[in-house]
Amino acid sequence: MDCLEITGGASLNGKLIVSGAKNAALPILAATILSKNPVAIANLPNVADIRTFLKLLELLGGGYVKENEIFTIDASKIACVVAAYDIVKTMRASILVLGPLLARYGECRVSLPGGCAIGQRPVDLHLKAMEKMGANISIEEGYIHAKAPRGLKGATIVFDKISVTGSENAVMAAALAKGKSEIVNCAKEPEVVQLCETIAKSGVKIDGIGGDAIEIEGTGGEAPNIPPIRVIPDRIEAGTYLCAAAITNGSLTLERVEPRHMTAVTDKLRQMGFAFEFGADTIRILKSAQIRPVEIVTAEYPGFPTDMQAQMMALATQAEGNSAIEERLFENRFMHVGELARMGAKIALRGNTATISGKTKLIGADVMATDLRASSALVLAALAASGKARIHRIYHLDRGYERMEEKLRAIGAQIERKKEPN
Ligand code: UD1
Repeated sequence: MDCLEITGGASLNGKLIVSGAKNAALPILAATILSKNPVAIANLPNVADIRTFLKLLELLGGGYVKENEIFTIDASKIACVVAAYDIVKTMRASILVLGPLLARYGECRVSLPGGCAIGQRPVDLHLKAMEKMGANISIEEGYIHAKAPRGLKGATIVFDKISVTGSENAVMAAALAKGKSEIVNCAKEPEVVQLCETIAKSGVKIDGIGGDAIEIEGTGGEAPNIPPIRVIPDRIEAGTYLCAAAITNGSLTLERVEPRHMTAVTDKLRQMGFAFEFGADTIRILKSAQIRPVEIVTAEYPGFPTDMQAQMMALATQAEGNSAIEERLFENRFMHVGELARMGAKIALRGNTATISGKTKLIGADVMATDLRASSALVLAALAASGKARIHRIYHLDRGYERMEEKLRAIGAQIERKKEPN
């Protein structure tokens, strides 16, 4: 197992290229199951979750070739419709194969995702959507067994709660259903929008993309041809590196980013005292003489992303005064609080609100990563801390950040990946 060793205190400056968005790439990979032909995908991030999903597609009978940074995925002929526990347990997003397998093959078995560090995270909304389209669902030996031997039927699906992957599953299933579907209270995240646009480009009629309710005219089982696609930039990776510059008093330019997807994060950073220069696909953050405290409430897009909450908490430890962060999407998504405290952060938790007292002097320590974004908060704190910090269990970080230590080192961080001593 690897750990990261960081000697804090260096200011991070220069340029950094943002990778493709993991959360956009995962549903696009799932959608290749719907396609009649192989699908060429550019800007696929080289992170563990994507490698796991490619492996899942292989286990289902698909394959891929990689040429000049373009992955051509052939999941057009699936030999097996079972997503086994061993792979699903390592990545919850495996649930994304449910909609496409069921829609294309009329039956599938997908292991129920297990417990998760950031709360209960049920999949009831996914299942209700499939049932609404006529699927018969049963839970057998820890597996979701979904059947629709005569194909799915278009339906009105009203999500009680906005779900990103739930909406994505519904969209993929509806694309091959017979007749029109309406998805109400659909997630509007840019990653959901890219999936809808990808499917629409294959000839499936989708109205209202990016809105609360979308209408999909299903093909009645006929597989469309998904054209080549370039994955959108990762807004969470971009936000994390903006925080890295901010917490180390640096000025940094992000390249290959989509500034329009970043508004909730850049607005909060601006309130904290940071100025920005925006280009068509660049964002430059400028250093600030003083960091002001902030109030953040997480929400669905276009609100403040829960996936940036932990990173902003690390930054808030360096603000002059008290900040408050309320987590509205997931219970138990404050696992980083205790670890940040080990580096000297003063954070009080009450229910789903954290109050961060600033400014505190952070001191490097041994800390444990608990989930993907919590891990990046620990990296940020370590970059600002005096002395050496060691971050353990960074396999969480590797799930979603491509070459993080290389990218940070290139802009001035003292960071090294080491083997954990046994
Ligand atoms: C996706 C993202 C994740 C992000 C989250 C919220 C991917 C691969 N992952 O996760 O990084 O943190 O959106 O922006 O895109 N819920 C239910 N029943 C369900 C499904 C969800 O109650 O069937 C609840 C969840 O517990 C949570 C809320 O709905 O409280 C939102 O979760 P959801 O949007 O589904 O998250 P994911 O799609 O799993």
